[in-house]
Amino acid sequence: MKRRLLIAGNWKMHKTPQETQQFIESFLAGVKEFSSCDVLLIPSFTSLDRAGRLLSESRVFIGAQDMHSDASGAYTGAISPGMLVACGCNFVLTGHSERRHVFGDSDDVVNRKLHAALENELRPILCVGETLDQRQRGRTESVLEDQLNGGLKGIDEKVLADIVIAYEPVWAIGTGKTATPEQAQAVIAFIRDWLETHFSKPAAGAMRILYGGSVTPANVRSLLAQPDIDGALIGGASLDPDSFAQIIAAAMSLPGGDAPC
Ligand code: PGA
Repeated sequence: MKRRLLIAGNWKMHKTPQETQQFIESFLAGVKEFSSCDVLLIPSFTSLDRAGRLLSESRVFIGAQDMHSDASGAYTGAISPGMLVACGCNFVLTGHSERRHVFGDSDDVVNRKLHAALENELRPILCVGETLDQRQRGRTESVLEDQLNGGLKGIDEKVLADIVIAYEPVWAIGTGKTATPEQAQAVIAFIRDWLETHFSKPAAGAMRILYGGSVTPANVRSLLAQPDIDGALIGGASLDPDSFAQIIAAAMSLPGGDAPC
């Protein structure tokens, strides 16, 4: 089954609202046709409202980098799912490795955010991935199993297609060390097998699984050519409108990439 590609730019802690506007204007002017893939921008919270307004007439989706799982309350500094929806968000990242490793988000917290996203009609992108030390000690699969078991706890198979998984090896994020297409394919195939075992073959086959970690215009095509890789989550290379547009053009140049799904 052919899954629709998703190309997502995670801006992390970069760009003011003004810089966001400059990016969007230049990106929309430069990007070529992208009818057969989904394009998603994930700016910081303070730029969401402006991005939502600027992109409301376009086919570009907006996502947030994180959120709290509660609807409201005494949580200084936190952002609720409803606030994201009001800014025009369609997606939200849950469990990005920087949230896990810098801010201490546990699998339990990630799972609560994932449920809250679905309840608010936001599509969660569950990020999973091993550290270099875990890979070198042969623990990649057990780490992913724990993150999938914890992150997807209590999820009904019926809503699985609304969830996206992003495999982002921590050692490849922001380091310039991309996983080879074969390494990324092997782990993503493992994730799909895990989904098949815990849910069903059709559900696993319908789910989009992205690769993230030092994706660039130069390497994206070979990653997306792998049978189980359904898109990319891009940090550094998504900050420049030309480079992000080149990544989308590379995705569109794959066989079948110019045919609307
Ligand atoms: P990178 O970041 O492309 O800069 O490695 C990816 C991510 O953290 O999502």
